[in-house]
Amino acid sequence: MKFDIAKLRKYIEHKNFLKRIEYFEEIDSTNTYLKNSNEIDRRLVIADFQTSGRGRFNRKWISNKGENLTFSLGIEKFEIGLITKLVFLIPTVIHNSIKELYDLEPEFKWPNDLLLDKKKFCGILIENIIDNQKSAKLVLGIGINCNQLDFPDEISYRTTSLKKILNNEINREKLLAKIIDNLSIHWEQFLRDQMQYYYFYKSKCFSIGKLISILFNEKIFTGIFKDVNENGELILQTNSGELIFNSGEITTIKE
Ligand code: BTN
Repeated sequence: MKFDIAKLRKYIEHKNFLKRIEYFEEIDSTNTYLKNSNEIDRRLVIADFQTSGRGRFNRKWISNKGENLTFSLGIEKFEIGLITKLVFLIPTVIHNSIKELYDLEPEFKWPNDLLLDKKKFCGILIENIIDNQKSAKLVLGIGINCNQLDFPDEISYRTTSLKKILNNEINREKLLAKIIDNLSIHWEQFLRDQMQYYYFYKSKCFSIGKLISILFNEKIFTGIFKDVNENGELILQTNSGELIFNSGEITTIKE
């Protein structure tokens, strides 16, 4: 079914958080669209289908037409020093929205995937364009598997959707409105103090304390996932000492 933007507007309680809402039945990528646009501050772009949806490491983000949420939010004049800490806020906002609407408790997979039953249902792609030494333009891109039941074979064993978990059709407009409202509630608080988001993120972070491997720059490193530091970096305890990663893809070896 087509995403209903009028319904979304009706459901959003914090009406002033967004400056503009745009909907596309089809687009290359909502992130690319905002990256190539001017005056993107607080602009929300939603698509029912992306022909070149992108994930981290330039991977494809594939999502059936009209079944899920694929959207991006533009933010301007964002303090550069806080960019790495967004990894604590955005998953938290999505977690709270899912908890409030469906009473589910997603876990976070470092850096910012969300899991249910240990399978991914939400991915986040944060892209930034540095304006000057102090501030940046941000594009926060989020994909949430809502009503899709079948996934390509290569990913089906590690991918899920809210409908698969709940056995119920998800009201996409209601979920997106909840996410915008929660973002609005937490935004100013986050800009003032990131620590509560840091601690919450760690409390939900899947695999801390476990044996993992991490793929970084085409190399695999193995060790204990010791912690996430205040900059959102992963600390890996290896036989030859501690290594710190600011990106990468982790796999849990031993639960
Ligand atoms: C990941 O898990 O690697 C991140 C996936 C992010 C996908 C979203 S869908 C909306 C926005 N537009 C894109 O092209 N990507 C993001």
